[in-house]
Amino acid sequence: MQHLVAPSLLAANFLRLEEDIRMVNRSEADLFHVDVMDGHFVPNISFGFSIIRQIRSVATKPLDVHLMISEPDRYLEDFRDAGADWLSVHYETCAHLHRSIQRIKSLGMKAGVVINPHNPVSLLSDILPEADHVLLMSVNPGFGGQAFIDSTYNRIRTLHEMKKSLNPGLLIEVDGGVDLQNAPGLVEAGANILVAGSSIFRSDDPAATITRLRRKHPQVPG
Ligand code: DX5
Ligand code: ZN
Repeated sequence: MQHLVAPSLLAANFLRLEEDIRMVNRSEADLFHVDVMDGHFVPNISFGFSIIRQIRSVATKPLDVHLMISEPDRYLEDFRDAGADWLSVHYETCAHLHRSIQRIKSLGMKAGVVINPHNPVSLLSDILPEADHVLLMSVNPGFGGQAFIDSTYNRIRTLHEMKKSLNPGLLIEVDGGVDLQNAPGLVEAGANILVAGSSIFRSDDPAATITRLRRKHPQVPG
């Protein structure tokens, strides 16, 4: 299967957000990755419903909303109403994760589980059959532009093995520090979706970087 690329709007220029969204619309990107941070579960605050609604009004591709918030269950319907097509919640924030995943699906969204780098992927075995995607954090959540954590390769491989028997259709998404250098190895290990913020929006030609990230063997400039 061709892997997907999800540019993270956290790294976009908020003063010309519409322009950046239209660039992603025209590009070969598959999804918009939208990071919601509450200053409680993670030590940073990003944006909320009104911005997501405005992104939705311009975006022509699905919104993959990544909730880095405490008590996400309180807001699942609000995120759907704001325009989320995919919604993922952190394992660490849901006491009744099975219920949360069922609820996200019943609201008509693709349901994802996210885990932090310190949590073993084996924790996901019983929820795996219910999830549409698993988002493996390859940095500690909260900020763009952080260094990629190398143990992620093995975590992807382990999850890739687990999904064969538990949920072959599951998509494995990787988020944090993804760039043209590590992308081929991540796909090789079993990643189906690459989230990338800084490496896209800080590059000279973001649309061309998206195209390269979608290739199996991107030519890394320089
Ligand atoms: C980090 C966010 C990421 C972030 C990725 O907490 O979940 O989606 O935007 O940014 P880069 O690609 O710059 O690491
Ligand atoms: Zn994210």
